[in-house]
Amino acid sequence: MLAPRFFDQVRRPALEAETLPAACYSDPAFFETEKKEIFHKVWNFIGHDDQVKAPGDYMAFELVGIPVIVARGRDGKVRAFANTCRHRGCRVITGSGNSRAFKCGYHGWVYGLDGKLQGAPQMEHSHGFDKADYGLFPIRLEQWGRFMYVNFRADAPLLATQLGALVGTLASYNFDDMVLVRRREVEVGCNWKIYLENVMEPYHTPHVHATTLAMKNEDEGATIMSGNSNLLFGEGGDNAPVKLEFGENHACLVGRHVGSRGLLPGEEPLPPIKSLAGRPRDGSIWSYTYPCTTISCQREGMWYVEIQPLAVDRSKLVLGTCFPKETTERPDFEDKVQGYYRRLDITTAEDLVITEEQQAGVSSPFARAGRVCHLEAVAHAFRNWVADKVQPAA
Ligand code: FES
Ligand SMILES: [Fe+2]
Repeated sequence: MLAPRFFDQVRRPALEAETLPAACYSDPAFFETEKKEIFHKVWNFIGHDDQVKAPGDYMAFELVGIPVIVARGRDGKVRAFANTCRHRGCRVITGSGNSRAFKCGYHGWVYGLDGKLQGAPQMEHSHGFDKADYGLFPIRLEQWGRFMYVNFRADAPLLATQLGALVGTLASYNFDDMVLVRRREVEVGCNWKIYLENVMEPYHTPHVHATTLAMKNEDEGATIMSGNSNLLFGEGGDNAPVKLEFGENHACLVGRHVGSRGLLPGEEPLPPIKSLAGRPRDGSIWSYTYPCTTISCQREGMWYVEIQPLAVDRSKLVLGTCFPKETTERPDFEDKVQGYYRRLDITTAEDLVITEEQQAGVSSPFARAGRVCHLEAVAHAFRNWVADKVQPAA
């Protein structure tokens, strides 16, 4: 049980507040509370539907320890199920591929792509046994464009409710038309919040990305990536280089700049997304959808980082890069997209090193909550979201 007033200092206004207590990043008991109060209740991002493109395509994975199957049926519909056999609970399948059905390796019960139990050897001798009663438990799955989310609760509100105003803010990127061109997994030895807080703030950019992201702004003046303290961060209304937007379950950095933030200096950009309208035409929108997905939209395309919590001090990152279908069909696409991969991989590698250093330090008995810089306003909002989930304000 968390002490009463555990988050009082986190809940103060950003410039008076403290960061989360160190135990939130290192205590296995706090991680168990997060699973129960956050991940078992909210819509969790699980990727792009190109991962199960054709009827019969499936993928099995674990989400905060819960085995899940996602499969595309013969009818073209994507469904999710608990990957737990209805006979004696064995995990039914592992990995991904294409199949007509799923057969449990223990006693051979067979489930269709729709989760229905199709075969149960010898069970005709069991009294009153009806296959119709023993399909895989369905898990709710909804999509935002081509992005898939699952929710373990039958009574949770719709995905659109959780996403809120963000759907409108990002509408002109036209997620329905985005193709997944690369998906890469990498493990990192840090708590999921440590990685997310890192990507939420440009304060670390001049130090951690000194020779990469921080290099690019010389001809452009202060921008979101510079980390300069003279940055009009959150001030100046619509004309600020960076505007902050906060929603109930998300935050955005809306950046105005020339050039591409998806590339390192000297790389040639792909053409802009044709449907862009309003603020997305002027720069980039970095959005953070709680609990743990970042969706970084550039003029030309976008990437996401799915931060999957594995343990209190270990996470899996899934980096997904997407471009409009028309862009991917250009003859120069394969060549130019390499620049986007390079930028993402190099800066991710830099962030991996520093976030593992933070995990090591924050796990010490000497670790204490720290203070908040104005460039960390989004991370502060996120910490308050976590606090409200695990200990609703009195
Ligand atoms: S546990 Fe799956 S068939 Fe027995
Ligand atoms: Fe970074």
